[in-house]
Amino acid sequence: MNPIAQELNQIIEKKNPHIMEMLSNMGRNLFFPKGILSQSAEAREKAHKLNATIGIATEHGETMHFSSVMGSICSIQPRESLTYAPSFGIPDLRKVWQDSLFKKNPSLEGKTISLPVVTCGITHAISMFADIWLDPDDVVILPDKMWGNYNMILNVKKGAKISHYDLFSQNLGFNLEAFEEKIKTEAQQHDKLIVLLNFPNNPTGYSVTIEEGNRITEILAGIAETGKNIIAVTDDSYFGLFYENRTLKESLFANLCNRHSRLLAIKLDGATKENFVWGLRVGFITYGCKIEGDPMAVYDALERKTAGSIRGSISNASHLGQTIVLRSMQSENYVKEKEEKFRVLKNRAGRIKEVLSDTRYKEAWDVYPFNSGYFMCIRLKSVDAETLRLHLLEKYGVGLISMGKRDLRIAFSCLEESDILELFNIIFQGVEDLKALNE
Ligand SMILES: Cc1ncc(COP(=O)(O)O)c(C=O)c1O
Repeated sequence: MNPIAQELNQIIEKKNPHIMEMLSNMGRNLFFPKGILSQSAEAREKAHKLNATIGIATEHGETMHFSSVMGSICSIQPRESLTYAPSFGIPDLRKVWQDSLFKKNPSLEGKTISLPVVTCGITHAISMFADIWLDPDDVVILPDKMWGNYNMILNVKKGAKISHYDLFSQNLGFNLEAFEEKIKTEAQQHDKLIVLLNFPNNPTGYSVTIEEGNRITEILAGIAETGKNIIAVTDDSYFGLFYENRTLKESLFANLCNRHSRLLAIKLDGATKENFVWGLRVGFITYGCKIEGDPMAVYDALERKTAGSIRGSISNASHLGQTIVLRSMQSENYVKEKEEKFRVLKNRAGRIKEVLSDTRYKEAWDVYPFNSGYFMCIRLKSVDAETLRLHLLEKYGVGLISMGKRDLRIAFSCLEESDILELFNIIFQGVEDLKALNE
């Protein structure tokens, strides 16, 4: 094992040996290399005459560039857009995002969390999480309704086993019983459990209530208390888009992050969905754990392992993307802009509830609970979801996502409020068409 990795492991082991137990084999071996990167950093400070260390090109003291490239970027200097960002992410953005986590999650007050490490979107954050914390045959607990790409990242690429519980109970809230039972069953067979919590949920648009959130935290802390190691990962991709009063408006990360020494909380989030900059690919990984005494050395070690994993995959995320997100978050209009877009999405969700209150639709589908995010789902009563999807596309030019035999996902994030009634009428007509064909 590389001596730098050994050093990081000793720091973690000394402060909280359970976190060492939780790391994957790769996670234990990961480190942030000193080589070229640290020599370049030293040169940036001290090589005042000539600096020939970095793998970029310069000319007349500036970053070399084509005018045809900079012409499209306009107000951002080449050194803030074309040069490499650090593998950890640009420091100002990491700090601004961390500050925003404290603002968005008041329960974090008085707690210490790591600095967020920048990833290339949240997909990459999940993949980096998997490298550092998942070994083949580890178990990841997820609801039956989940983002399909988890399967690719966690199962197909990493070899972890995904173990499902039913997301909804009969009374159409989060199925606490199924969740608890699944955790207890898996805990009988594994010393380490990974629990992935995604609220607002893709595909259903459901977020837990305050009571459900508290109970989830209690269940996980309870299992940790029995001597099992728990990694609770929150995928907060759609964070902040909470439309109803009873919904928990904070990330579960905030309550999980210093609950128990055997409970490690990892927050995966990003500007991609929250700030509507999907293609800029800016995501984050943030750690929260319970450490006796000063946790900063452990966070530093975890950040270094994470940055090492990024260095070994994409090297670093887009500097241009990070600078644009940083400037937007520092702009005086940012809060207002965010509020405006939140209103647009909230009004669409409200309009969908209004339209779906029409009892006429009841014979065609049930509506899964939704109160947040970009999506909602319906469960078809009499026709196959994929057959209906194709029919709606061919006959009406309407595109939706079918999931399994009965479910259709509707992304109201890309529907105008004024189109919502027409959309559901078309879906209803499509169901009628198929039923008539089958008769
Ligand atoms: C639940 C969930 N997690 C992660 C992602 C990936 O987001 P990103 O575009 O930041 O990679 C998505 C995107 O659809 C998602 O729905």
